[in-house]
Amino acid sequence: MAFIVFEGIDGSGKSTLIQGLCETLVQQNIPFKTTREPGGTPLAEEIRSLLLRIEDEVPHPRTELLLYQASRAQHVENVIRPHLESGDWVLCDRFTSSSLAFQAGGRKLNEEKIRQLNDYATDGLSPDLWVLLDLTVEESEKRRQHRTDSGGLDADRFERERFEFHQSVRNHYLKQASSEPEKWLVIDASHPPAQVLAQLLSTLKEKGWLS
Ligand code: TYD
Repeated sequence: MAFIVFEGIDGSGKSTLIQGLCETLVQQNIPFKTTREPGGTPLAEEIRSLLLRIEDEVPHPRTELLLYQASRAQHVENVIRPHLESGDWVLCDRFTSSSLAFQAGGRKLNEEKIRQLNDYATDGLSPDLWVLLDLTVEESEKRRQHRTDSGGLDADRFERERFEFHQSVRNHYLKQASSEPEKWLVIDASHPPAQVLAQLLSTLKEKGWLS
């Protein structure tokens, strides 16, 4: 049984990698559950849609943080912990490190407070392995083929803010990974998907988790 979390900036290829690992687990008859944050339970999915909604009112960064944490507490207690207790592997797309990278790195909220909230929401549950799909912001933007049609000053400012935000998120992930190297596997996500998957599988074999 293993609890593995996949992290990275938008467009880093988490879903493809998770899909590839699932295929290997099926071949090896290993029971598993895939899930994601924010979301993973009906209530947490409702919180997710609140978070991703862009009309009406933009959430304050502290509101945003608390919604991520509320979704997480529900997800941990109703999905992650029960599956781990029954012996399943859990593959989770984003977890507490996203709150650190996006809300502390990106939004500049107090990191220590976020750590405390992470602990509170998870009741201390922590993954066995973090997988960081590391990608430059330039490459991420290219992959999402983001473009603004209009140009002009406002569009430029928006672009720059977006770029700097994601740059801070990426840097924060790298900082988390380097402060706990035994818990993090950092993969260069600019490599082809098959190579990224091969690197993950070889690490899981080295750990003796896969044959
Ligand atoms: P999603 O569409 O799932 O993005 P992705 O496919 O890149 O995972 O949206 C989730 C967004 O929520 C993503 O931009 C990261 C952000 N997020 C946080 O800011 N804090 C968190 O704690 C979590 C779990 C996600």
